[in-house]
Formats: sequence, structure tokens, C-alpha cells
Amino acid sequence: MIIENLDKLKKEVLAELKKIKDAEALEKLRVKYLGRKSQLSLILRDLKKLAENERPKIGALANEIKEDLQKAFALLEKDLKSTSKSTEDKFFDLSLPGKRTDYGHLSPLTQIEYEIEDIFISLGFIILDGPELESDYYNFTAVNMPANHPSRDMQDTFFIEDWLAESSEKKNDERLRLVLRTQTSATQVRAMEKYGAPLRLISPGRCFRHEATDSRHESTFNQVEGLMIDQDISISHLIAFLKIAFKGIFKHEVKLRIRPGYFPFVEPGLEVDVDCLICQGKGCQVCKKTGWVEMLGAGLVHPNVLKAGGLDPKIWSGYAFGIGLNRLAMLKYGINDIRLFNSGDLRFIKQF
Ligand code: PHE
Repeated sequence: MIIENLDKLKKEVLAELKKIKDAEALEKLRVKYLGRKSQLSLILRDLKKLAENERPKIGALANEIKEDLQKAFALLEKDLKSTSKSTEDKFFDLSLPGKRTDYGHLSPLTQIEYEIEDIFISLGFIILDGPELESDYYNFTAVNMPANHPSRDMQDTFFIEDWLAESSEKKNDERLRLVLRTQTSATQVRAMEKYGAPLRLISPGRCFRHEATDSRHESTFNQVEGLMIDQDISISHLIAFLKIAFKGIFKHEVKLRIRPGYFPFVEPGLEVDVDCLICQGKGCQVCKKTGWVEMLGAGLVHPNVLKAGGLDPKIWSGYAFGIGLNRLAMLKYGINDIRLFNSGDLRFIKQF
């Protein structure tokens, strides 16, 4: 009886093994037929209970079947492993997403530029671009810095040799002579010529000066020019708009300190400081213990500049300002060296 059962069991297991397709099912089957509670294990355990004459025969058969089955399991296990591996190698799922490439992102300068643009757009300003390779005229003469005027010395300039025509006529024509613009103020008269008055604009962009570089000076830097022209514009307008802008950028009320300053294209000319964001005015390294940080040049547009732009200074007045964008970003993000901006160093750029 037991012998018949054992044979049946063996056939049954071998038949089931044929249906197995993966390792998990195989393991389940192993537990069922070879595990501690399996029929086979129970028979082997209870051999003692059998009649003495039956014991050796049944014991031998049960052990033989057990070994056969173990071999069959081992064989199938090996088989499953090798097929699953080879299908893994060959199989290529076209529907899987590809390897992700690194995305770039906006530099801190561009981020802060966009923030400023949003603020001024909300105040009715337009955003203007100007050429980086600018004529001597718009960069200097038009904004009240005529040829040979000593104020030109304030801005060490990259003059560009005229590679199109070597004629002295061209070289001497300030509208044709080219410079790498030293200031975004170069867009002021361009804008007046194009749009007339009233006018509200900001003009962000790169500027260039022949600087000996250090942690605060760089030959390529960014500015944002602001210009508002209307009737009866005063310094109060300038202060009000600057306060709104700084509050938008720094997310809290900012104190302004206004000092006289000289720029040929404004009269009066002003230097505007903000209370130091690092120490809140208490005095630290960044503000050189003064509690104030120099932020921008500004003033009321000089009548000569309005005239150059085709506007009558008796009717129109305006304010202008120029913010150093690098300095603003340095203060906002706590950056201690201006040269990092153009360094291309990913360890720096990835922090923003
Ligand atoms: N263009 C000036 C500079 O580069 C800044 C400025 C702009 C000052 C507008 C007054 C008005 O230093």
C-alpha cells in the first residue's frame, strides 16, 4: 500500500515539475513535497512504526524517491536560472524611459534679472535689450559724455578696432566707432528715439570694462538700467519705485540711504545704499562696518540726455538708475567673489 503510494507520489511530483516556469513556483513545490511536513518526510520519520519486515524495503524506496526528486528539483532550478539570465541579457524593453540627461538651469544672475523684470513689468515698465557691441555715440556722447570729456576716464573701455573699414572717416565717426558697452545707460537714448515720452523701461544686460579683476571687480558684469520719463518726475518717484523693487527682491522692507554722486547723465546725481542685508545694519565685513551697502547709481535725467533723445526738457523730466546685478546677487545669496559668476565652475552654479 505504502509502496504504491510512494510510486504515485513520485509520478505526481515529476508531472507537476514539468509545469513549473519560475523559481518561486519551484520553491513552493519543494516545500509541499520535500519540506518537513511533506508526505515523504512523514513516511521517513514514522518508519519505526512500521512492521519490522516492511521497514527496510519501504525505507530504501522512500529515500531513493527523495533523492530522485531532489535531483529533479536541482536540475530544474539550474535550468530556470540560466534561461532567466539569458532572456534578461537579450530582452530590451523599448517602452522603458531612457537614461535621464542632466538638465541645466538658469544662472543666479538670470534668476535675479527675471525677478526684477517681473517686478517692473507689474509697475508698467517695458523690458528693453540693447547691443553689447555699442557705438561710441550711444555709450558715451548721447548720455552727456562727449569725446575728450574727462568723465570717460571713469570707465576703462574696450574700444574695438574697426575691422570693416580702416578709413579714418569711419574711425572718427562716433556713431560708427564701436566699443564693448561699459554701461546699460547706452540704451537710454536709443529708447527715447524709438518710443518717445512718456516712457518706463528697464534694460538688463552685460557690460564690459577693462578692469584689473579682484573679488569685487570683473571685466564682464551685468547691470539693469531703469528709466522713467514723464512730466514732473522728481526724486520721490525714484525712491518710491526703488523701495518697491527692493522689497520685491529681498522680500522685506529695505532702508535706503541717498548720497550725492557724480554721473554725467543725471543732475542731480545720486548714489543709493541699502541697509546691509547680512547684518541688518549692525555692521559687518560685507558693509565694512558701516551698516550700508552701496547698491546703485541714479539721478534725474540730465537735460542734455533728453535733448539727445529728441525730447524737450521743458516738458519732460525723468529719473534713471543703474543697478549692478552681480552685486545684488552677491548680497542676496551671500556670494563672496564676483569672479565665480563667469567661472563656469559647476560646483558654484549647481547651488542655485
Ligand atoms: N551707468 C552708471 C554706471 O555704470 C550707473 C547709473 C545709471 C547712474 C543711471 C545714474 C543713472 O556706473
